[in-house]
Amino acid sequence: MPSRVEAIVSLIPEKIKIVYDLCCDLGLIGKTIDKLRAIDKIIYIDSNEKIKGLQNFICADAREFVFSNEPDVCYVIAGIGGKLAIEIFDNILNCNQDVNKVFIFCVNRDHEELKEKLSAIANVKQQIFYIKEGSYSYEVIQVSLPRHVEEIVINDLAAELDFYQKKIRHLSYKKDNFSNTWLNKYKHRQEKLIIHNN
Ligand SMILES: C[S@@+](CC[C@H](N)C(=O)[O-])C[C@H]1O[C@@H](n2cnc3c(N)ncnc32)[C@H](O)[C@@H]1O
Repeated sequence: MPSRVEAIVSLIPEKIKIVYDLCCDLGLIGKTIDKLRAIDKIIYIDSNEKIKGLQNFICADAREFVFSNEPDVCYVIAGIGGKLAIEIFDNILNCNQDVNKVFIFCVNRDHEELKEKLSAIANVKQQIFYIKEGSYSYEVIQVSLPRHVEEIVINDLAAELDFYQKKIRHLSYKKDNFSNTWLNKYKHRQEKLIIHNN
């Protein structure tokens, strides 16, 4: 089974020419993409000005950066919260609306807010995968705009069950309606997955 970073790399479609590694920190994801794939250009963006030594590094707030309007671009948004990821996503959509693009999300909290946001957008194709690395289970979401048909399968069932289990435990403590709705969704998906695989 691939690691979180390998999973992200494997979700970049063949036709992609430019990858943005957003909130890149030291650039682990972009560097791995560079090693494993023939991508014309990898652009690294982080708001921390101390990050240096990466080729094509731009110090900027990804929520405000003006992205150019090129087709066949993939935006990797990982290692941050879902709410910040939504703000960055909105900024990119505002900057370039007409061209086809792919997003790969792997957020570390507020997964529910991000999924709600993505399902409210018309003409997007979403594929969700679960990846286990050590004791962590990651949810990785590939989004294509507009929809295209390249199907990729990298799911780890054990990771998916583990992700639901942890979410159910976490959301059980919360009492608001939003958390309760998602608690029930995760319980339902867990049940379906168990029945389907028995
Ligand atoms: C935990 S690191 C994630 C590194 C990498 N993306 C990964 O998943 O391995 C989070 C990074 O997000 C950056 N960051 C936080 N808010 C940001 C923003 N609004 N714009 C750009 N970078 C941001 C931080 O400076 C930090 O380097």
